[in-house]
Amino acid sequence: MRVLNIDHPLVAHKLTVLRDKNTPSSVFRQLADELVTLLAYEATRNVAVAPAEVETPVATTVGRKLTDPKPMVVPILRAGLGMLDGITRLLPTAEVGFLGMVRNDETLEVTTYANRLPDDLTGRQCFVVDPMLATGHTLIASVNYLLEKGARDITCVTLLSAPEGIATMEQKLDKNANITVVTAAIDEKLNEKNYIVPGLGDAGDRLFGVV
Ligand code: URA
Repeated sequence: MRVLNIDHPLVAHKLTVLRDKNTPSSVFRQLADELVTLLAYEATRNVAVAPAEVETPVATTVGRKLTDPKPMVVPILRAGLGMLDGITRLLPTAEVGFLGMVRNDETLEVTTYANRLPDDLTGRQCFVVDPMLATGHTLIASVNYLLEKGARDITCVTLLSAPEGIATMEQKLDKNANITVVTAAIDEKLNEKNYIVPGLGDAGDRLFGVV
């Protein structure tokens, strides 16, 4: 698994405002959206393209265009919804499939409560969006599900990641699978409630204003 921690002044600025407990939901949503677009630029670095002829007003040349099958964006409900527009802005032709995952806080077992994805993902490049990579269990379950369905490669885009979650993903996921995590920051640790420290709190609540 590759981990890309994006080091960019605009990413750092937006993330710092997101962390601020006094930032209201409306600003949080807007900044999260902008931040995801910046991360998506890096996350799509290996998106499949093929040579394509194009006629300019002056001459014919060969450029590159996205190929089929279309990329698949997978927001993890609920907080991943706050990242959907930010990534589809750069990948408007992508299809969007939804996964709802819930973790039992005691056993850490993850169960799927919603699934709107095609059954066959053979050859598809998948972009999983979930703001917080905390214990890693939700992303592990999502990535394994997509791999089982035939995904060609999987890029997880997160706003914040905990070192514990990254280590668990590295340990539990197939070493031969083509998996990348793109994140705006790797924080210090998880606390006893599995919140990321210093983090930004509950990303779903901050995005949607339900506390
Ligand atoms: N999910 C969140 O929303 N916040 C955390 O800190 C950890 C998981």
